[in-house]
Amino acid sequence: MYVCVCQAVSDHDIRRAIAGGAHTFEDVQARTGCTTCCGCCEAEARELVDASVESERRAAALPVAA
Ligand code: FES
Repeated sequence: MYVCVCQAVSDHDIRRAIAGGAHTFEDVQARTGCTTCCGCCEAEARELVDASVESERRAAALPVAA
């Protein structure tokens, strides 16, 4: 699903940017170009970034199964 139509950035692109090391909305914005045109996608993009960063943090904190 496209989050940012102007820059053709999907939810998958945002999650991939975070998995690749982006830790903030600004990191994702710099890597994907999301929200850099009309800006009407910013609220949805920020929500997705926050949720994805939190998910990555929780996954990193989980113990490795033996
Ligand atoms: S829809 Fe994302 S900048 Fe326009």
